[in-house]
Amino acid sequence: MKVAADADRLRREGIDVVDFGAGEPDFPTPDHIKNAAIAALAANFTKYTPAGGTQELKQAICERHRADFGTRYTPAECMVTVGGKHAIFNLIQALVDPGDEVVIPVPYWVTYKDVVNYAGGTCVFVDTDEAAGFALTAAMLEPHLTPKTRLVIINSPSNPSGAVLAKEEFIRIHELVAGRGVLLLTDECYCQFLYDDAPFSIASVPGAGESVVVAGSLSKTYAMTGWRIGFALAPAPLIGAMTKLQSHSTSNPTSIAQKAAVEALRGPQDSVPDMLAEYRRRRDFVVTRLRAIPGVSIIEPKGAFYAYPNISVAFRGGKLKSSLDFAEKLLSQAHVAVVPGEAFGTADHIRISYATSMHELERGLERLHHFIQQAS
Ligand SMILES: Cc1ncc(COP(=O)(O)O)c(C=O)c1O
Repeated sequence: MKVAADADRLRREGIDVVDFGAGEPDFPTPDHIKNAAIAALAANFTKYTPAGGTQELKQAICERHRADFGTRYTPAECMVTVGGKHAIFNLIQALVDPGDEVVIPVPYWVTYKDVVNYAGGTCVFVDTDEAAGFALTAAMLEPHLTPKTRLVIINSPSNPSGAVLAKEEFIRIHELVAGRGVLLLTDECYCQFLYDDAPFSIASVPGAGESVVVAGSLSKTYAMTGWRIGFALAPAPLIGAMTKLQSHSTSNPTSIAQKAAVEALRGPQDSVPDMLAEYRRRRDFVVTRLRAIPGVSIIEPKGAFYAYPNISVAFRGGKLKSSLDFAEKLLSQAHVAVVPGEAFGTADHIRISYATSMHELERGLERLHHFIQQAS
């Protein structure tokens, strides 16, 4: 958000900024979804809905999750939230008390840490190995589980690294976590954007009903970031507690957006593979182009729409001290906006969002190449 604000300020000063900061699809919301919202307005579907969302939408969420992953959630185990972020917020506020520990693999999406801190919980970070593709393993996780562990958060595909947890390892992690009576939060925000593997949800394995919470989002899947519709799938008592919290904070997600969400989930799904094909083309271009910069390494992203190159070569010249410093100077001097790795818990990386046009990718990566050569 800060990167976007800084880039915006420069743009208003008339500077030609290439923006790789934004974590949102550059595609418009598909027309059939927009039309459902227009129809909802015309039909005056503009009143409060139940706090946890309409029965119709909860049903549509459960049906889509079942069709995609083979799960068997019912509306009592589902709530609609104001974006996937709000599902995570509700869960952590409902579950985590001061002194409780929440395990978060590094690199992580920045919000987890702040939401846990806000609940008074303690974040326990687990480093992953860049050379092994930033993939968490059960063996890495095990020493970090203690009697105080309340929750383990997994985000696959990952923002920021694009890493995808192999299905077998994900199952091992779930067995370990569930065996300790700990909940596993699976953040499925990018679950439809996988380049090699078939979409998989850990919620589909036997026994997951009691030990897994799914945080889902329509934001990226259907290019609906501004509509603010996400959901949680969880054991019914937890959904009850989270809905209570939501009822006294935001009340229901917007009624009109909920109607659009029903259409997104039940209507034609072809926009999803179309977007994925375009992301793949861009991913391939970005990886090839980054690897052409001497000293820069990049783990090929297996999902989502982010590249997370190691740019520590740029620190060698002594002019740049950290990726934060790198990102600030890249923006002020070369006019390219990226997010520094510090935001995600690592100091040697930057996050490049390739949810932008090929033209912008070409221009921005050219500038980045030149900037790194000057610095290193
Ligand atoms: C990993 C991850 N989870 C959840 C979200 C939440 O998205 P939203 O609140 O728009 O559904 C995001 C958004 O960037 C994300 O990157």
